[in-house]
Amino acid sequence: MSGKPPFYITTPIYYVNDNPHIGHAYTTLACDVLARFMRLDGHEVMFLTGTDEHGQKVEKAAEEAGIDPQSFCDKVSENFRILSKEWNFSNDDFIRTTEPRHVESAQALWRKLRDADAIYLDHYEGWYAVRDEAFYAEDELTQGSDGTKLAPTGAPVEWVKEPSYFFRLSAFQDRLLELYDSRPDFILPESRRNEVKSFVAGGLRDLSISRTSFSWGIPVPDDPDHIMYVWIDALTNYITAAGYPDENGENFKSWWPALHMMGKDILRFHAVYWPAFLMAAGIGLPKRIYAHGWWTSEGQKISKSLGNVIVPSDIVARYGLDQVRYTLMREVSFGNDGDFSHRGAVQRCNHDLANDYGNLAQRVLSMITKNCDGQVPEHGDFTAEDSALMAKAYGLLQVSRDHLDTQAFHLMLQSIWNVIGDANRYVDETAPWALKKTDPARMATVLYVLAETVRVLALLTQPVMPDSSSKILDQLAVGEGDRQFDRISADHALTSGTALPKPQGVFPRYQNDEAA
Ligand code: MSP
Repeated sequence: MSGKPPFYITTPIYYVNDNPHIGHAYTTLACDVLARFMRLDGHEVMFLTGTDEHGQKVEKAAEEAGIDPQSFCDKVSENFRILSKEWNFSNDDFIRTTEPRHVESAQALWRKLRDADAIYLDHYEGWYAVRDEAFYAEDELTQGSDGTKLAPTGAPVEWVKEPSYFFRLSAFQDRLLELYDSRPDFILPESRRNEVKSFVAGGLRDLSISRTSFSWGIPVPDDPDHIMYVWIDALTNYITAAGYPDENGENFKSWWPALHMMGKDILRFHAVYWPAFLMAAGIGLPKRIYAHGWWTSEGQKISKSLGNVIVPSDIVARYGLDQVRYTLMREVSFGNDGDFSHRGAVQRCNHDLANDYGNLAQRVLSMITKNCDGQVPEHGDFTAEDSALMAKAYGLLQVSRDHLDTQAFHLMLQSIWNVIGDANRYVDETAPWALKKTDPARMATVLYVLAETVRVLALLTQPVMPDSSSKILDQLAVGEGDRQFDRISADHALTSGTALPKPQGVFPRYQNDEAA
């Protein structure tokens, strides 16, 4: 044990009415990068993803597909597991809300809320959007071009009238506002926190949390005419996977609370409803709620009707997996909306990866093969420039930790690329190829400094580009056991005389360049 605190991170669980698209891949990718970073940094990590399988939307999709809901869920849920493999996601668990462990947990939470008098039976009459699985008030609705009423998200709404259990959300307004004030980084980014605050300050209505007009859901304990509203069921997944209802078990105590990552569209459920449920049940609150932005495609909103859905496996086939992982994490300031374009992706592949990073590694390794017998070179005394470059590389670990502490993936990558830029300038300035004749000992030192810098860079790019970083580390003969972040220091620097394998390019240029 490292003595570092365990780290629990979750993606939203994805509705199985749809196949995976870039939005799903993006949320999970961000979690994967954090999970990998924390593991490499010596934390025990639980990284959870999964599928949200109940509710009216899934029931309808199954009906349209002409199969029973459970078989439908089994089929589509599998596509999300496949996405995990294709994208090299390192999730430790994959939860499905139709699993017995979850049904037990959701019912246990319900009983707890009921026993705490946070639930009462009444009637619901109002607007419901199946697409969002959300209730809306009259004054939130807008008019569609054909006069129909629409939710603020643009989803069609229908009038629902049925008996329903309610959660006393209105009773939690003050405690929620207190929470947002006392823990300013509970919701990030800050702009989102302000949105949530003003929503809650505007007043909260009690929340309908059961349905009777369809049956695809978890039965309400002791009242089987009702099934749970899909969001109370879905949110509970985060504690199910940590071992709930065994609240006092070792698992729950070591993992909970979690950092919840999601897109901005589902922030309200996570930042308002979920903490209120937990408060009512006397369970600890999440560590953080982070809401990231949305992607457009070539400047346009992504939608099925426009036919511009970005299929995760397509972009991987086109640009390469690590190239896509890098592009998505670098292209946008995390938290903001961003645009995915072919031009942008090619620029990242060719400029940042092939030219800057790939070329640095490749140049250094080939010069070592040619001029140093394919071994980590011997080095003489380091000059101020040599030491400055290596110190800056070692310093990246703390810089990266600080950025990832607020999920600023783009800033971490910018900092790493600054050092890549420094290293490339150092190559040009020291011109090791010219030193070969004039001062071979100095050449060896320069190549040593560069190889050591590349080692540190490759260690730090592992969370974002696991395969490519591993290839670079293989070429530097860094063993599997020496790839944790505690090796990022001069004490673990490359050992002169170590034989290196024949170097190979890691980041090919994107060739078929219709964007050029
Ligand atoms: N089932 C709920 C979540 C329950 S969590 C307790 C749900 N599922 S979803 O399948 O619709 O999730 C979609 C996820 O993908 C959300 O985080 C959403 O923000 C994200 N995205 C969907 N389209 C997106 C983009 N175009 N761009 C980025 N992310 C987007 O909501």
